[in-house]
Amino acid sequence: MAKTAELIIDGKSYKFPIVEGTEGEQGIDISNLLEETGAVTLDFGYKNTGATKSAITFLDGDKGILRYRGYSIEDLAAKSTFLEVSYLLIFGELPTADQLTKFSDDIKNHTMVHEDIKKILDGFPSSSHPMGVLASLFCAQTAFYPESLDPNRSSEGVYLSIVRSLAKMPTFASWAYKNEVGHPVNYPDNSLDYCSRFLKMMFALPAEKYEVDPVVAAALDKLLILHADHEQNCSTSTVRIVGSSKASIYSSISAGINALWGPLHGGANQEVILMLEQIKKDGGDTDKWIAKAKDKNDPFRLMGFGHRVYKNFDPRAKIIKKAADDVLEKLGVNDPTLEIAMKLEEIALKDPYFIERKLYPNVDFYSGIIYRALGIPVDMFTVMFAIGRLPGWIAQWKELRENKEPIGRPRQIYTGQNLRPYVALNKR
Ligand code: SDX
Repeated sequence: MAKTAELIIDGKSYKFPIVEGTEGEQGIDISNLLEETGAVTLDFGYKNTGATKSAITFLDGDKGILRYRGYSIEDLAAKSTFLEVSYLLIFGELPTADQLTKFSDDIKNHTMVHEDIKKILDGFPSSSHPMGVLASLFCAQTAFYPESLDPNRSSEGVYLSIVRSLAKMPTFASWAYKNEVGHPVNYPDNSLDYCSRFLKMMFALPAEKYEVDPVVAAALDKLLILHADHEQNCSTSTVRIVGSSKASIYSSISAGINALWGPLHGGANQEVILMLEQIKKDGGDTDKWIAKAKDKNDPFRLMGFGHRVYKNFDPRAKIIKKAADDVLEKLGVNDPTLEIAMKLEEIALKDPYFIERKLYPNVDFYSGIIYRALGIPVDMFTVMFAIGRLPGWIAQWKELRENKEPIGRPRQIYTGQNLRPYVALNKR
């Protein structure tokens, strides 16, 4: 007998089916709620609302579990590569050696961007934040590949858009950085692997020979894996709702880039470093800043702490914290903000305010420390998050289209004026 949930409104009973996921999660299917009861639900921030069924990523916030297509993030971060994880997320299975070689080669064949992209780039002043440039350049692909405007075109056409997205994202990202520092852009060197190719486009200068440090490339590959997907977070939900209108993959993902930019979401990694620098400049008084974070009258929040889903620990933060230690040691970098971050974590995890609210370091708390050690400038941190999250956005957009999900259109509870007659201007 299928499980149901009962709702009683004005004494009348209504029953709704309970949907169960493969990990035992339960959802009340209210697809007919409005039709049957005349009422809608109200759930600010969708804290209790499932927007879809998805087979891509599984999170358990209490147990600190994160799995991509059933594989644990710990396993993938330790043993896989970003391109292999991208293939897994998008196509559902780990690739064979031949499949991975073809995927990697297909991506290499599309890393160049149309020269006219430079004309768009030239329109951005060097004061432009790289996230705004990235979102614009990524969406500009709709102009250069107008056939992509039909999201339901052939599977070969969708595959080409997926390959182009993964191939050109690092090129767009590095060009956004070069535009900011006033350096000439670099073209992709396809003799290199995905991360090394990006690093060379970012940091190579015409007058110097640039060699990618394999420690840096390996650390970056691991960071991208850790950011690759995270079920229905703010930016992914944005990609899905834009994609639900049958907008192209490029415009849907460009919307996701913009949603990620916010300091409460992907923009937090930049805010964490700025916060740590502020605390360092202020003398490193961590107790003072913890008190500020707890003070309701103080707008200061401990950036990189707290999470809508994880109420125990963010498994990614654990992996990144260890990686931060390893990378800084290997690179011989002594970053005092790492000690400040670890001190903040130590204090916060013993403090009732954080314990009661189940606030723990999230993915953004330590990632900025590694990015900085890798030479990535602070306002490129969220761009790095976008490069990592791209395969997840692609996978979620593809799943939505393949499942033929309806256009997203939430309802509301109206709280404005009741009907009233128009008043002529001379009578107001
Ligand atoms: C990401 O969803 C995802 O999966 C996102 C992400 C992904 O991979 O896509 O994991 C990436 O976005 C990580 C989160 C990065 N953002 C930050 O680090 C910004 C700082 N953290 C927050 O602002 C906050 O914790 C959120 C936005 C992450 C979550 O906010 P919620 O779930 O809406 O919780 P809330 O704001 O309602 O806070 C609940 C309580 C409040 O106190 P009370 O009103 O109950 O007294 O906790 C407090 C908040 O004031 N609180 C904090 C805090 N975060 C929450 N207090 C101090 N410092 C903080 N960081």
